[in-house]
Amino acid sequence: MSHLFPNYARKPFEIVEGTGLTVTDQTGKQYLDFTSGIGVVNLGHHYPAVEEALAQQAARLWHMPNLYESSLQEEVAAGLAGELDYVGFFCNSGAEANEAAIKLARKFTGKSPVVTFEQSFHGRTYGAMTATGQDSIHAGFEPLVPDFHYGIYNDYDSIDTLIDSETAAVLVELIQGEGGIITAEKAWITALAEKCRACGALLMVDEVQTGMGRTGSLFAFQQFAIEPDIFTLAKGLGNGIPVGAMMGKRALASAFGPGSHGTTFGGNKLAMAAAKAVLTAMKAPGFFDEVNLRSQELFAGLTAITSDKIEDIRGLGLMIGIQLTSAEVLAEVSAVLEEKGLLTLRAGKNVLRLLPALTVSREEVKEALALIQEVLEK
Ligand SMILES: Cc1ncc(COP(=O)(O)O)c(C=O)c1O
Repeated sequence: MSHLFPNYARKPFEIVEGTGLTVTDQTGKQYLDFTSGIGVVNLGHHYPAVEEALAQQAARLWHMPNLYESSLQEEVAAGLAGELDYVGFFCNSGAEANEAAIKLARKFTGKSPVVTFEQSFHGRTYGAMTATGQDSIHAGFEPLVPDFHYGIYNDYDSIDTLIDSETAAVLVELIQGEGGIITAEKAWITALAEKCRACGALLMVDEVQTGMGRTGSLFAFQQFAIEPDIFTLAKGLGNGIPVGAMMGKRALASAFGPGSHGTTFGGNKLAMAAAKAVLTAMKAPGFFDEVNLRSQELFAGLTAITSDKIEDIRGLGLMIGIQLTSAEVLAEVSAVLEEKGLLTLRAGKNVLRLLPALTVSREEVKEALALIQEVLEK
């Protein structure tokens, strides 16, 4: 009998080893991992440079509280900010990063209403769960945090009716990941950003799933020609070591003075060593050229599949959704893929989600495509 809460619907096998995109279960069966641990292990399992950085840091110092300076935190925040004038706050998960964003927005603006969107996913803590625009995720946990308002994604009327001079902030994903790989229209995001600016509402982009290279650039917002006031990260930032980050424009810093917000483990030395190594790998010349080539190969291969089970293929970079005709078809397809050795994910009700590591090889793309074609054309 299990000693765990049954809050996860677990598959009846355990992955015990992994290198790159190849993982092995307890019986020795190998799989090609097109999940990256739900968009976490973006450089693949066992990535040597991250492992090396962790080993070196582990031999030196694991943890000191945020009562002292941290050059590692400074380096990672500077690396994430790049050319832009952002400052960072480190935490341990995506939900915590969004929690920090919501708190900062309310404190900085002195206003309360926060606008988010239907089908969004922002995490499971009270603020992040309330921000999440899905009734099924709220069910049983009421009362929720007050003053959250849900717009319709990609809908211009929602921008007009929900955002005004009283709004503290808007929190949005540029591709709704858990919601079904639904991509925001660029013109709609531009209109959203303009409305926020006009109303003095902060534009907060949840890059927890889209960030750290997933969409073919370090952050998805770089492809949408916007500069969010705040963006949040987690998942791929530590390549499997738990770490989250909230990046905000320097002008917001005054609202998060000493004692305003914090977390014991935030910016832990091991997490920062991993994040620094991840950033170094992703900033290497040509890294994203390869990612985008693999993305093109995957999209080309998928669109060449002729199957009446496919309703739509969409996404950006290596965040790809194949919308199938029903939840039942999806369950059957993913089970057969798994049996044949390809691990995939679900998004929304009927979307087969592919999140291979960004280091996926051309051969692995071909291998996955052959399996997907075989199963979908059957
Ligand atoms: C867009 C987005 N935001 C936030 C989260 C929550 O992150 P975490 O599970 O690390 O709290 C997720 C997790 O799937 C996510 O996809």
